[in-house]
Amino acid sequence: MAWMTQEIPPLVTELLNTGKLTSQDRLLDIGCGSGELALGLARAGIEIVGVDFSDTAILKAREAGHYFPDLRLKFQVGDFCDPNFRLGKFSWLIDRGCLHVIPDDQKQAYFNNAARGLSANGSFLIFHKSNLGDKNNAISLDSLKKMIATYGGQNFELITTKPYDFSEGKNEKVGFALYLKRSAT
Ligand SMILES: C[S@@+](CC[C@H](N)C(=O)[O-])C[C@H]1O[C@@H](n2cnc3c(N)ncnc32)[C@H](O)[C@@H]1O
Repeated sequence: MAWMTQEIPPLVTELLNTGKLTSQDRLLDIGCGSGELALGLARAGIEIVGVDFSDTAILKAREAGHYFPDLRLKFQVGDFCDPNFRLGKFSWLIDRGCLHVIPDDQKQAYFNNAARGLSANGSFLIFHKSNLGDKNNAISLDSLKKMIATYGGQNFELITTKPYDFSEGKNEKVGFALYLKRSAT
């Protein structure tokens, strides 16, 4: 089963290995899907909440989580673009593949929730595809930077960007890893 593989991208493994992400952290996985990344991180000792607006995805994630009752791992159905979304405070946010499916008219609500949920100086890692299935219509890094400045500029500072391959080496689903810090509140 897919969830049996610990699906942690090398960039996140690096964060664990360098102590930037530790068992002291509380992490929210935005748009967690069926929970592979959340489960992998929980197995690495991180306290984690996965949220997704798909009942089916959360059901699958919870089923996988049931095999590991000792982990600090919860899955919650929720719309991250709902202005009433509340799940408390986190020191880390991770989004792999959710922001790039959020419609433009909901991006402000998304970033408002991210700002509300992230502690001062907290970290936010976004894996964003640059090619949403149409090779002639790739999203440039510049346009992603502009998008972050437009919707998140008041609350977040973009620290680093790196290329990221969603297809694990096949170079089919390319994108960027965007590392943001919450500005002091
Ligand atoms: C491409 S999948 C990525 C799933 C998972 N993060 C992964 O890496 O395998 C995008 C996920 O975002 C979720 N999603 C999209 N919009 C959302 C929203 N407004 N609130 C919560 N989840 C959302 C979808 O249901 C879907 O599970």
